Amino acid sequence: MKYDFDTLISRNDTGSLKWDKYGDQDVIPVWVADMDFPLAPEIQQALTDRLQHPVFGYTRASARLYDVLIQHISSVYGWSIEKEWINWIPGVVSGLAASTRAYASPGSEIVVNPPIYHHFFQVHDESRNKLVKVPLCVREGRWTYDLEAMKQSIGPDTSLILLCSPHNPTGTVFTQQELDSVCELAAEVDAVVVSDEIHCGLVLDSNTPHVPTVLASPQNQDRIVTLMSASKTFNLAGLNCSYSIIPNPELQERFNRACAEIVPMVGTLAFTATEAAFESAEPWRQALLEYLRANRDWLQTEIDSIPGLKMQSMQATYLAWIDATELGLNDTTGFFERHGVGFSSGEQFGQAQYLRLNFACPRARLEEVVSRIRGAVATL
Ligand SMILES: Cc1ncc(COP(=O)(O)O)c(C=O)c1O
Repeated sequence: MKYDFDTLISRNDTGSLKWDKYGDQDVIPVWVADMDFPLAPEIQQALTDRLQHPVFGYTRASARLYDVLIQHISSVYGWSIEKEWINWIPGVVSGLAASTRAYASPGSEIVVNPPIYHHFFQVHDESRNKLVKVPLCVREGRWTYDLEAMKQSIGPDTSLILLCSPHNPTGTVFTQQELDSVCELAAEVDAVVVSDEIHCGLVLDSNTPHVPTVLASPQNQDRIVTLMSASKTFNLAGLNCSYSIIPNPELQERFNRACAEIVPMVGTLAFTATEAAFESAEPWRQALLEYLRANRDWLQTEIDSIPGLKMQSMQATYLAWIDATELGLNDTTGFFERHGVGFSSGEQFGQAQYLRLNFACPRARLEEVVSRIRGAVATL
């Protein structure tokens, strides 16, 4: 079946966070991480079918959902998980926040690696825990952990390490060895590792497969909490369904206690969509990856041909990380907004001279975005 990723769909009057930000201004938004593509027809059909039943009370994950999720994780990542390890939560960010309450004892330190998705800086209670930032480094054009710096920064006060793999905003898919090295550092000080793998379904390079952190470091399985969701891959962010995978029952109990009464249950339609995604939307995901891969490759050539801009090479996600240092601007995001392009500012991820560009949109729109960027830079 041929899926349509080319049609420009207006998101006006849908309450779109991405599009409403600029209202009537002529600014094309390429910031927040959702896609301008329609969802898989298989998912839309499942939602339509569910709407025929008129009762929307509290809902549990169906036995079928557990089955298709376990099957999906086994067939795509080669990871055998058990039903008892899974907990359903409405969002990965809630899962990160709950983890800081569950695993970081008062006064202890939480390690994060900038540049990083901005919520990693914000999910902890500042009066309770100290955030230790250990920047990633660039090696052979690829962002990765600075293991020496990690070694220096992780110590007896470290209770929790928050990982993001594949990584937002750099698009790195970490290798088994990189992930294992970080988990081994955690083991030395008995810290918990929370691995946000929300982008795992969006690996663009077939020679760099996503390795779940637990598989990368199986000897540390009992200290690892994995957070995943179908939301990024299948464009369901507005429905709110995510899950944690926690093999260690004690860590799971602490996670559940931190969520109780604060984190709401997953909504009925969110379960329906997630089940349909894992059950029948794999061909759509493959077609999406092909489209995104072509967008990425085209964008890389275009951006790199614009003086002063350099797109970092990336293996996963639909978020391009662009170095704009050479433009020498004080407010790079504001400059491009004035020329009709709404980037995510690098500052929110911890790197002010960078821009993040979401290329999950029809090629025609991406071409217009690039043409505006080129025109903007030409005015300097
Ligand atoms: C790394 C990462 N984690 C979490 C989220 C958001 O998760 P949720 O909407 O499930 O809270 C995003 C969204 O862009 C993300 O990039």
